Amino acid sequence: MNQLRLPQALKINEIKVENATTKTFILDGALDAQPGQFVMAWLPGMEDKPFSLANNNPISLTVAAVGPFSRALHNLQAGDRLWVRGPLGKGYSLSGDSSGHILLIGGGYGVAPLHFLTRRAPASGCRVSAIIGARSASDLLLVNAFKSLGVSLWLTTEDGSVGQQGLATDAISSVLADSEIRPKTVYTCGPTGMLQAVAARCKAENIPVQAGWEAQMRCGIGVCGSCEVGQGWLTCLDGPVFSFDPVETSPL
Ligand SMILES: Cc1cc2nc3c(=O)[nH]c(=O)nc-3n(C[C@H](O)[C@H](O)[C@H](O)COP(=O)(O)OP(=O)(O)OC[C@H]3O[C@@H](n4cnc5c(N)ncnc54)[C@H](O)[C@@H]3O)c2cc1C
Ligand code: FES
Repeated sequence: MNQLRLPQALKINEIKVENATTKTFILDGALDAQPGQFVMAWLPGMEDKPFSLANNNPISLTVAAVGPFSRALHNLQAGDRLWVRGPLGKGYSLSGDSSGHILLIGGGYGVAPLHFLTRRAPASGCRVSAIIGARSASDLLLVNAFKSLGVSLWLTTEDGSVGQQGLATDAISSVLADSEIRPKTVYTCGPTGMLQAVAARCKAENIPVQAGWEAQMRCGIGVCGSCEVGQGWLTCLDGPVFSFDPVETSPL
């Protein structure tokens, strides 16, 4: 396994359709990487875009089609090439949670790096509970993939079409109420509003949080400053996983 300092063209071996807007691209390559780290992906004629690693071996990216780059990616076929450099940034750290319970809370494509983290958990002796939230049943991602890893799973949908009706954060109480699975640490990735709500709840419960944040990125390596948040934190270098709120520079 290796690290790619310069963009390298990798063949797309397989494309999995996850739901109406999201596909997973499985590439012909592997990286020495931690869950929560990201790669910069590039296509000819377009600007690089950051994507969390959904897996490092083989390199896999779970991408929602929302704009020009992600739509161009969705138009590719197996056998086409995608340029990738990385891994970049700081990922999640499972150290300190040995033999303990951890709770993952994911929304949207944020569940992909958390699934990668779940596969690393047994090596640290962690037992995993996860809350996955989406607007509707058809938007939920990687549910069977989490189930196949033996994770205790809570599903939430805003329209109530499956699981508990409401937001992912609404299910936290159910997990915390069960002393058998009370987490040592909460790991979260998803929309900023969700991260802030998770952080507020965990702060009240005195449970440490590691959260994967997003920002506009251009270089991905701490040079351009476009991903700066708060008092000079660079999301690409100091994050994207922070154990403090980089905007307020206060503990999560
Ligand atoms: C560290 C990091 C990790 C990331 N990991 C992933 C990942 O694993 N998978 C992934 O799909 N993307 C991920 N992103 C986001 C990704 O880099 C792009 O921003 C995204 O694909 C949109 O790029 P675009 O050029 O297609 O559209 P843009 O032109 O950037 O966006 C088009 C429009 O869509 C809006 N938009 C952007 N993202 C979303 C969204 N999630 N839902 C709804 N509207 C949105 C924008 O505000 C804009 O109005 C990550 C970003 C960061 C910083
Ligand atoms: S993306 Fe350029 S400094 Fe972070």
